[in-house]
Amino acid sequence: MSKIQNHLIFFTLLGLAATLSGQESIEIKSATTCKKCHEDIYIQWSSSQHARSTPANNILFAKIYELSRKDTNGDTKLYCIRCHAPVSQINGDVDLVQEITNEGITCDICHSISELSDSPQHWPNIYEPGNIKRGPHGDTDPEGHESVYSELFENSRLCSGCHGDMLDIPGTRSCGNLTICDTDFEWKSSSYAADGKSCVDCHMTGISGQLIADKTETESQHNFYGAYSPGKLREAAKVDLNIKEFEGEIIASVQVENVGAAHLLPTGPPARMMILKVSALNNAGEVIWSNFTDNPAAQDPYGIFHIVFADPDGKVPSMPWLASRIVKDTRLRPGEKRQLVYKLPAEGVVMVEAKLLYRLAPPPLLDKFEITDSTLRNPYLMAQARKLVRTK
Ligand code: HEC
Ligand code: HEC
Ligand code: HEC
Ligand code: HEC
Ligand code: HEC
Repeated sequence: MSKIQNHLIFFTLLGLAATLSGQESIEIKSATTCKKCHEDIYIQWSSSQHARSTPANNILFAKIYELSRKDTNGDTKLYCIRCHAPVSQINGDVDLVQEITNEGITCDICHSISELSDSPQHWPNIYEPGNIKRGPHGDTDPEGHESVYSELFENSRLCSGCHGDMLDIPGTRSCGNLTICDTDFEWKSSSYAADGKSCVDCHMTGISGQLIADKTETESQHNFYGAYSPGKLREAAKVDLNIKEFEGEIIASVQVENVGAAHLLPTGPPARMMILKVSALNNAGEVIWSNFTDNPAAQDPYGIFHIVFADPDGKVPSMPWLASRIVKDTRLRPGEKRQLVYKLPAEGVVMVEAKLLYRLAPPPLLDKFEITDSTLRNPYLMAQARKLVRTK
């Protein structure tokens, strides 16, 4: 079967060749066809963000995708969907109207990746859809399809095509070598990669189920828990708190540590952020001091862990496709411990607490898009620590 590289001009040619030679379909199959035999995996995948990566089922992506096209006169239209609606690379449905395209990162996308191209001219993922499914075993005896072992499923190379670097966004005014997000590189530079702990080891373990109905137990789970999973977020970070009282002041040293993520914290889209909230409480449990009230960006920018861009005119923050430089990058490296020190008046304080919160997107951005969805609005608690202040 012919290899498909992601070049739009090949679509029609390949389609025609397949029809003329009467060979098997080179279409990406719907996840519902896999469901017949791999039901547990299907259920897990259905609840994952991989199944919610296109505008039709992801409001945040829909709004940001729309804005990027507007800002770049449509230049980002094809670019963004290479990763977010990869089926479009095979069926040519770049307007994302077909149901199959809106399955997002569907089963047959991952299990049809045969190789990753190193050539800088090519998009890395090479898809060979068809009756052969690639996977971690190859020694299986599938009933519905052939199966072939691929080392891409054992190490984390399969993930790198889409979770790797996002240079050269078309239409960017001077993106140059600015790295917008590169989880794959962050992981490769960490000790986790050196120790052989891969993306799959952390993101595809946990719940098990049946590989196929009434047969072998599956070893891998397909929920792909990440930043949308409060449980996964709690694995990532640790907060320690030390307090000292000195001349009527409390000195609170907060240590924030990336204990569980093999990449930056937060990683991925620049909208993500972690916010440290430090509060002092009185006898009645009321907050009598905190590092910020309603606007952490203005009141305590040091307590925010994120990346911020500027555009060539100096406008901050800039959307990634308009950005020309990084103004600030306070994300925590794998294993990094960072100390933040706060001084507050000791009067009346009986307890100090530090909470590390996670936001999928900043509230001003959600306001701008009129997004009210509570999954996106609510901050998530990642870690916390408390200390009682000795009363004299
Ligand atoms: C008619 C039933 C059936 C359907 C439909 C089906 N599979 Fe399978 N599949 C199997 C069986 C049986 C196995 C082997 C299970 C075992 O070894 O216990 C298997 C194994 C696999 C493996 C493991 C391959 C390896 O060597 O590691 C992958 C990946 C896979 N299937 C993907 C898919 C995808 C993707 C779809 C939908 C496009 C799909 N399957 C549809 C029956 C099916
Ligand atoms: C074809 C492209 C593609 C491939 C291959 C791919 N991903 Fe993703 N992944 C995405 C996109 C796009 C999203 C964002 C979906 C969204 O939220 O819009 C995503 C999101 C995620 C998330 C975030 C989920 C959350 O709750 O925040 C995790 C974790 C993840 N992928 C892990 C993996 C792992 C592990 C692999 C390799 C086994 C992998 N991905 C392979 C495109 C891909
Ligand atoms: C040691 C375990 C570990 C390894 C290895 C690991 N991750 Fe993660 N990952 C986490 C944890 C914990 C989180 C949740 C915290 C967060 O969102 O950053 C996470 C979150 C994510 C997210 C969601 C980020 C967001 O903001 O939406 C993505 C995507 C992701 N990982 C992809 C990957 C990829 C791709 C690899 C391999 C290159 C990888 N991870 C390797 C532990 C790991
Ligand atoms: C983001 C890429 C990705 C998507 C999407 C995906 N898979 Fe997988 N799949 C993998 C990887 C990687 C492995 C190997 C995991 C491991 O070694 O633990 C795997 C393993 C499997 C296996 C073998 C499981 C086992 O325990 O041996 C089957 C079967 C399978 N997938 C079917 C599916 C089906 C069905 C869907 C959709 C409902 C799907 N996959 C969606 C990446 C993906
Ligand atoms: C190289 C592949 C790739 C390209 C190209 C790409 N993205 Fe993504 N995008 C991802 C992955 C992978 C994630 C999930 C990462 C994570 O959660 O850490 C993601 C996540 C997102 C999210 C967050 C979605 C959510 O559910 O929270 C938005 C918004 C987004 N991308 C917008 C865009 C826009 C707009 C473009 C085009 C300018 C674009 N992306 C191009 C791979 C890509």
